[in-house]
Amino acid sequence: MTNAAFTPRVFSGIQPSGGLTLGNYLGALKRFVDMQDAGKYDCVYCLVDLHAITVWQEPEKLRANTRELAAFFIACGIDPEKSILFNQSQVPAHSQLAWIFNTVARMGWMGRMTQWKDKAGKNSENASLGLFAYPALMAADILLYHATHVPVGEDQKQHLELTRDVAAKFNHDYGVDFFPITEPVIEGPATRVMSLRDGTKKMSKSDPSDMSRINMSDDADKIAQKFRKARTDSEPLPGNYDELKERPAARNLVDIFAALSGRTQADIMTEVEGMQWGTFKPLLADLAVDKLSPISTEMTRLLSDPAEIDRILGKGADRADSIATPILEKTYELVGMVSSRG
Ligand code: TYM
Repeated sequence: MTNAAFTPRVFSGIQPSGGLTLGNYLGALKRFVDMQDAGKYDCVYCLVDLHAITVWQEPEKLRANTRELAAFFIACGIDPEKSILFNQSQVPAHSQLAWIFNTVARMGWMGRMTQWKDKAGKNSENASLGLFAYPALMAADILLYHATHVPVGEDQKQHLELTRDVAAKFNHDYGVDFFPITEPVIEGPATRVMSLRDGTKKMSKSDPSDMSRINMSDDADKIAQKFRKARTDSEPLPGNYDELKERPAARNLVDIFAALSGRTQADIMTEVEGMQWGTFKPLLADLAVDKLSPISTEMTRLLSDPAEIDRILGKGADRADSIATPILEKTYELVGMVSSRG
């Protein structure tokens, strides 16, 4: 069976661990909205709170971050009537399928994950078991909906390869064609937004320097200041994008400009050829403020009514459950569990 046998369905998730960045917006959210608006897919978007607790989270902060992330999705243009929007822990089937996948995935596969190595670091003996098993839960998130397409940033590529391996091994071991071999969707100019201080490092909320990233909570002055101070080289901008190959910091700013404006890099280059950074950076800052300010204003408005956010997430969880439960039940049956509760 090929993926054509499955309903075209998008699944993606973001951790509610606080500190949303421009990387999350351009690498994920903006593209989630595009896929929703394309009208070609069922879209299921998840706030992965169970993933978040694989590293310590203050309970009250986790709750606040989950609501803030929900507001971010909606403020960016996710329509909870069109797409399913919910938090992972409200649909128990995620944990249940993850357990099955813990028995399918191999220790060696998990041990090779670069995210595990980065996050556990030298002190892996002291990392949580959940952090090690993280990718099996991620495979469960995706395969529980028989999702065919998963939009993510470049840093999630290895986890999606593992999801394909889990699906293939399950199908092989049980002699079925039950789970689709999901397609990662890693496309567009900003699949890897880089640090503003070091063009060879990913923009990340965990970077010690706040100047390295644009936070979704930064105001217009802060955004302008961060772009003005962004590290670049001293060469002017070329007319051809290929010429930025060896200039990662310069390329990053062009990628951000292209992604924010919804245009290709090639298109941008024809306009900025010969420009100095002193001219380009203010243009970029203005564009960013233009695109990001309405999002943060809308987030503030939405967050003034947390009960409404909870209602949206509850309704999303009911809809998610109605897809997930039959797939989990069928999985249990394939695995050989007795089901006798009527
Ligand atoms: P998370 O929460 O770290 O990041 C959420 C999304 O944002 C993207 N992203 C970036 N994209 C481009 N440039 C950057 N600098 C940047 N920083 C973050 C990430 O690639 C991601 O798409 N394991 C996932 C969450 C997850 C998930 C899933 C994703 C759990 N289950 C199922 C897809 C499908 C994670 O930690 O993302």
